Amino acid sequence: MDLILIGFMGSGKTTISRRLGQRLGLPVTDLDQVIVTTAEQSIATIFAEQGEAGFRRLETQALAQQISQPGILATGGGVPTQAQNRSLLHRQPAPVVLLEIAPETAYERVKADEQRPLAKQLDLAKLAALKVARQANYQRCADLIVDANQSPDLIVDEILTKYQLG
Ligand code: S3P
Repeated sequence: MDLILIGFMGSGKTTISRRLGQRLGLPVTDLDQVIVTTAEQSIATIFAEQGEAGFRRLETQALAQQISQPGILATGGGVPTQAQNRSLLHRQPAPVVLLEIAPETAYERVKADEQRPLAKQLDLAKLAALKVARQANYQRCADLIVDANQSPDLIVDEILTKYQLG
């Protein structure tokens, strides 16, 4: 990959990856989409039929498969929680950018989303607690942390300026 985005659910990874891809003329890969296409099942169905552990196995397989491809990769919010995924991220050369979002904003964005089975079960307090529990792993994986509580244009500019891209 040329650049990898990580961050909590609702931090804007998909949106920002598309904009980066447009600006840089690079292909964009969404890891959740790869999982859905490979499994021929929705994320919600995978969670319902195989549980979170089954989903995590598919996610690690998809990450291992995609990580050496060119382009921008938007990961799922749980990727940095798995040791195997962290080691895949560490072993590859592309910058890993953490989009840092306020839990309130993340909650507003994901609460009604049927395709985010984890978020669906959580109220704001529980979602915020999940983010806190994950934070050390997010930071451990990140080469750059960007405030994602700003407009997509500013976020993209910050990333491009930092890596002198575009
Ligand atoms: C998850 C985040 C989702 C998706 C799955 C699990 C998580 O991706 O991979 O529902 O554990 O945070 P987004 O970050 O794109 O919502």
